[in-house]
This record gives sequence, C-alpha cells and structure tokens, in this order.
Amino acid sequence: MRSAKYSGAGPAAEVVSLIDVEVPVPGQDEVLVAVSAVGLNPVDVKIRAAARDFGPIQYSDRPGWDVAGRIAAVGPGAEAWSIGDRVFALASFPAAAHTLADYAVVPAGDLAAAPAAWSAAEAGAVPLAALTAWQALEAIGVVAGQRILILGGAGGVGHLAVQLATARGAHVIATASPAKHDLVRRWGAVEVIDYHDGDALAAIGPVDAVLITVDDTLPPRNTVAPGTAIVTITGLPPAQQAELEEWGADPIRPILVHADGAQLAEIAALADTGAVTPHLDGRFPLTALAVAQERVESGRVTGKVVVVVDPED
Ligand SMILES: NC(=O)c1ccc[n+]([C@@H]2O[C@H](COP(=O)([O-])OP(=O)(O)OC[C@H]3O[C@@H](n4cnc5c(N)ncnc54)[C@H](OP(=O)(O)O)[C@@H]3O)[C@@H](O)[C@H]2O)c1
Repeated sequence: MRSAKYSGAGPAAEVVSLIDVEVPVPGQDEVLVAVSAVGLNPVDVKIRAAARDFGPIQYSDRPGWDVAGRIAAVGPGAEAWSIGDRVFALASFPAAAHTLADYAVVPAGDLAAAPAAWSAAEAGAVPLAALTAWQALEAIGVVAGQRILILGGAGGVGHLAVQLATARGAHVIATASPAKHDLVRRWGAVEVIDYHDGDALAAIGPVDAVLITVDDTLPPRNTVAPGTAIVTITGLPPAQQAELEEWGADPIRPILVHADGAQLAEIAALADTGAVTPHLDGRFPLTALAVAQERVESGRVTGKVVVVVDPED
C-alpha cells in the first residue's frame, strides 16, 4: 500500500514522498481502516519542518493523525466494530498514527461512526480540529447566553468552535478578515470583527470567555473583565499570561487536544442535526500531499485542507 514518508526536516516539496509498505495488522483493541480522507493541521507541517517531537506530540517520518474511512479488519477486543463501518477518528494523538496511507491502524477508543450528513472528505478533514474546539469549549464551560470571543473564527479550529459554541446557545463574537465575514456569520457568529481594525476591536466590550486560536494574539484589553475565562490552543508566553491575569482574567488554561472517540460521537450527533458542517478550503489527492501542506503553511486557510486518499468513497 502507499504511505506518505518524510525524508527528514525541510520544506514539503523537498522531503515529502510516497513509499510502498506492508498493510499493517490491527492488534488488541485496534481496527484497520481503509482510508478515504485525512485532514491536515498546522501541527502536521510544523512537525514535518522540524522532524522532531514537540513535547508529547510524537514525530514520525510516516505522518497523519486525522482519518475517515471504512473498517477493513477488526483486532481482538474491538469486535464492537464491523467490517465496512464508516468511521472517523483522531488516531492515537499525541502519539504517531501514520494515517496518510491507504490503510491505517486506529485504536478502537479513538473511533466514532462518521456522521451520515457528512461526505468522507468532510469527516476526514476535521477530527483534530473539531476535538480541539470541543475540548476548548468544555474547558471554558460554555453555556447558553454567554458572550464568547473567538480569536480566529475562520481557521480550522475557529470555524468549528464558532459552530459548536453557537449550538450551545452562546453569543459568539469572532475575528476574521473582511472577505471571510459572510461565512463566519453563516456559521453562527453574531458579531464578526476585522482583526486589522483596532477601533472595531476596542469596541467589543467585556466578554465572559475568550478562545485564542491564533499564534501570538492577545484579546483586546477592553474584552477582559474580572472572571473572564481564557483558553488558548496556541499557548501564551508567561509575561502575556501575567498581563491577562493582571487585567482580571481567570488563570489562563492552555489545552492540548487528545484523541477521544466518545467526544467525536457527540460531535457526529450534532452534525447529523445540521448544527455543524465542515468548510473545505481545498481537497488534494495523496499524490499532491506536498502542495496540500504548502496550502496549510500559507496561514490563509478557511476551514480545512483535506487529502483525499480514496476518491471512490
Ligand atoms: N493546542 C492544541 O491542541 C491545538 C490543536 C489544533 C491547533 N492548534 C494550533 O492552533 C492554531 C490554529 O490552528 P488552525 O488549524 O485553526 O489554523 P489554520 O486553519 O491554519 O488558521 C488559519 C486561519 O487563521 C486566520 N488568522 C490568521 N491570523 C489571524 C488573526 N490575527 N486574527 C484572526 N484570524 C487570523 C486566517 O485568516 P486570514 O487569512 O483572514 O488571515 C485563516 O483563516 C495553530 O497554531 C495550531 O498549531 C493547537
């Protein structure tokens, strides 16, 4: 079967290739998935460029974490799943998973049935981003009526966070470039603010919670009031954390997404009500993985970039 392979650290065009490897065999509590589609994430390209682990995130020269496809074989202990089931997963994260291939072994606990409402490309595109959004909103404890500011409402995580927070009844305010405002409103944001416009940012006013999905970005000063909950998926230098806490924010909560099939099943249930729909920025065949990674590296992606491994599914 084909598998993506990195030859070392470096630019995608130089180090990404496809190799031929044996189809893996599922072990205890694992299944084999015939891969249909795999989402790409900033972590994929950051870790490829460096060719090393990032803290608990394990580097492998055979990449890929997101996956959607059909079950092709079931290991011992995973008999709750059947051959042919349509599934999606964030596989094994933060351990390596090698999903950018024709087949991938996935721990059964990371799987959920793919939403009937989504194509295979949509299901494969979003597990890491959707679980990040879900776990961030859980960390905030978002409830109906809360004002939540999402810094970066048009990216992979942000566009799903806007939809998931809207589904919980929150009043969502999101930042995005003007060309993306109509889309972000369609996803449910009540207010969409151009992040280049200092006056508009200054006019937002206090919020109950902030979700930071953009590197090196702080919420505007006037949005942080005593008790504002701040969750970041991009981390904050200690000096910036201290500054926000001085302004009255609750202690800052940085989160690292983890694989969780049960949470993906909750997201799938919402998807089937029509409350969450992935937006695909671009679809690329596995043979164009380097070009797909360059698109992610541009930093301009709206929604998700997905690699379609099996165009027939
Ligand atoms: N901690 C975790 O577990 C975790 C999980 C997932 C992702 N992450 C990290 O979170 C970050 C976001 O991930 P992602 O997948 O959402 O990224 P992404 O899809 O690549 O984000 C791209 C989007 O960000 C927008 N953007 C850029 N600068 C902005 C700004 N100053 N304000 C508002 N929007 C801005 C861009 O819009 P324009 O084109 O209009 O600028 C574009 O739509 C990455 O650093 C990623 O590594 C962390």
